[in-house]
Amino acid sequence: MSDAWDDVAEWWIDAVRDDPANSDDFLALLEELLEDDSADQRSDGLTLDVGCGEGQMMRRLGGTVIGTDVTAQLLRRAQAAGPTVRAALPDLSWARTNSFDRAICVGVVEAIADHRTLFHELRRVTRRNGQLAVVSNHPVTTAPRSEAMVDPNGEVFWRWGDYLGSGQIHQKVGDDVVVLHHRSIGQLLSSAADAGWRLDRLIERGPSPATLARHPDFGGQTNIPTLAGMRWTSTR
Ligand SMILES: C[S@@+](CC[C@H](N)C(=O)[O-])C[C@H]1O[C@@H](n2cnc3c(N)ncnc32)[C@H](O)[C@@H]1O
Repeated sequence: MSDAWDDVAEWWIDAVRDDPANSDDFLALLEELLEDDSADQRSDGLTLDVGCGEGQMMRRLGGTVIGTDVTAQLLRRAQAAGPTVRAALPDLSWARTNSFDRAICVGVVEAIADHRTLFHELRRVTRRNGQLAVVSNHPVTTAPRSEAMVDPNGEVFWRWGDYLGSGQIHQKVGDDVVVLHHRSIGQLLSSAADAGWRLDRLIERGPSPATLARHPDFGGQTNIPTLAGMRWTSTR
């Protein structure tokens, strides 16, 4: 079992430790999505962290968290935060039906080619009225040929590229690249609805002040969405 993430595992571990600006934005959005979650004690139940990486979200969440990921080097670190299972998503066949109170998936949906099966599998392993929270790169940024463009006055515009299509982009990660699979917000939400997920929240964000301070190349893009956060409840 191997994946492009094997080659960038070390880079990701360093990025989480040394340059938390980007991962802090993902984390803050996850916390906002889960904010009013305590009403039915889901936060005290059993959580599945889908694509847990080196475990930063597992360390932050309450209750019991089981992490799953394909990258062995990252899982070795995540194990300090809780039990882990090595598997290649969307395979969740190791998990029992209706066994989790909630699932979280941060920075991962866009790495998975078959997101429809992932939504179905997540619904299967989550109990009725259980919850799914996804934070991802905003689909505006994963569309092939989409990019920031600066006009002669210095104003930054966004080129939509193939937003309405469903291609791939190669994102530079350290000295390597990883493939991100593009699907529009509409395609993403429809796939989740087909799998039995009812949307509770959709939050769109631009870069935070901390990210802008560390990554001046994002300057002028505060009103261009970079992250999307979605929270659903299982209806079946
Ligand atoms: C951007 S990192 C996010 C990690 C973690 N969720 C976090 O926020 O710190 C993406 C993660 O997705 C995992 N991943 C990518 N493709 C995968 C696949 N097909 N199956 C399981 N995990 C995968 C990678 O190994 C990596 O840990």
